[in-house]
Amino acid sequence: MAFTDDLLEASEIIRSADSVTIISHIDADGIASEAILKEAVGRGKIPSESVFLRQLEPLMMKWVPKDDSLKIFVDLGAGQQNLIEEHGLLYEEVIILDHHIGQPSKTEYRQVNCLPYGVTKLSAAGIAYLVAREMDSSNRDLAKLAVVGNVGDMMAREGCGLVGPAREIALDGVKAGNVRAISHDLNCYGLSTRPIHICLSYSDDPVIPGISNNPNGAQLFLERLGIQLRDSEGQWRVWEDLGSEERRIIASALVEQLVAHGESVDRLFGESYIFPDEAPRSPLRNASEYATLLNACGRWTRPAIGSEVCRGDRGLIYQQAEEMLRHHRSVIRELFQYIIRTGVARTENFQWIHTQDQFPDTIVGIGAGMALSKLDRRLPIMVFCTLPDDPEVVKVSMRTVDRVVRSGIDLQAALCEASALVGGAGGGHAIAAGAYIPAGTEETFVRRIDEILARQSAQGTKDC
Ligand code: C5P
Ligand code: C5P
Ligand code: C5P
Repeated sequence: MAFTDDLLEASEIIRSADSVTIISHIDADGIASEAILKEAVGRGKIPSESVFLRQLEPLMMKWVPKDDSLKIFVDLGAGQQNLIEEHGLLYEEVIILDHHIGQPSKTEYRQVNCLPYGVTKLSAAGIAYLVAREMDSSNRDLAKLAVVGNVGDMMAREGCGLVGPAREIALDGVKAGNVRAISHDLNCYGLSTRPIHICLSYSDDPVIPGISNNPNGAQLFLERLGIQLRDSEGQWRVWEDLGSEERRIIASALVEQLVAHGESVDRLFGESYIFPDEAPRSPLRNASEYATLLNACGRWTRPAIGSEVCRGDRGLIYQQAEEMLRHHRSVIRELFQYIIRTGVARTENFQWIHTQDQFPDTIVGIGAGMALSKLDRRLPIMVFCTLPDDPEVVKVSMRTVDRVVRSGIDLQAALCEASALVGGAGGGHAIAAGAYIPAGTEETFVRRIDEILARQSAQGTKDC
């Protein structure tokens, strides 16, 4: 069977359901996936309920109803078919749309998964969108949400943006008129909301001498180039407000600056995805900031708010989402600073830190990813933390970068193997993975991970 056959089959299964329950994950990709499916089934007049889970694990299964609706598991499920089976769900009651690695189980549920087809740069929202488009071609406007899921789950390649089916989806959005893809744009977070000099000063990959971590330096640099930093009303301008000539001037001055210091310019540019139907300077205006807002809702236990925003709310619910975004960003900033200030322990093959009970387990992975940009990017980072509601369990999050994955490192495989050895369980992606392990096994776990990573890097390069 081809991937397109799987999509067609899934769309027919969903279209013929009397009612559906969408079971999804609480991160940006999970929320975008749920919103796409909820919108698509709603347009098809199929009633739906949604359940958001932090993780598909034994304690969470009680939230999966045992009624006669079709259960659509999205952004989770591939690796937990045994749990779905133990929960008593029959083959014909389930469909899984996922991009995580599958684990064998007795019942092989119907599934659309891009990994067996060698597609690694596609999020669950991408798959959900492709199914929705099969259900009805008028669902093409939902491509925008799939772009948010793809960008939120870091599916864009450094430098060239979304690739393969994820790129086709972005182009669907361009055709639908609610996505604009800007290639060779500045690769910085906050292009739509941060004042330009602040945006540049946050750029840490590559580190730009005199500008990174130096808002005053960045301001001087822009002033010297003759860039107006404020608009006619005295408001700070953002990168997106700049005309193409202004952008060109800044870009070539940045290149010059980097070259003069012998730094590579590879990662200075990337493709950005702007949503022209959203208010300028709002966090919904580009894909990466939109994804942050969804993460904020989900990781602070209000994923349904994110879903409402995806499906069009711009009123009171949206205001709550913005409030959560402010909170999310300030806690992540604290976590990030905590990691940098405290410092990480190093083994030969990775670096790690235990944040104990200082930060919620739902965000430590995000902080780890951000801290990595200020640490040695050649070594994956691991963060341990305790769980507020269970002293016997420790959460583990790991992050690395594309280049390290290409050299043969697979965090998903490493965490699965090491957590099984200490009586825990893990999963995720080669580049970003997590696990739960018994409290007290951290030291052994660190040694095991070190051995596994050493083995992986000895085995060497693979195509990611
Ligand atoms: O897929 P999982 O929930 O569901 O991944 C979410 C986290 O993993 C996010 O923090 C995302 O940034 C990270 N991730 C990543 N690179 C990938 C996939 C996920 O950094 N290729
Ligand atoms: O790992 P994950 O994709 O979830 O992490 C990305 C997160 O980092 C976003 O949710 C956003 O809050 C934050 N971010 C940021 N500034 C950056 C890069 C990322 O605030 N420069
Ligand atoms: O929690 P964190 O953001 O670190 O998760 C990174 C990735 O690992 C996500 O894709 C998540 O779904 C996965 N994960 C997992 N099993 C766990 C914890 C995380 O599959 N126990």
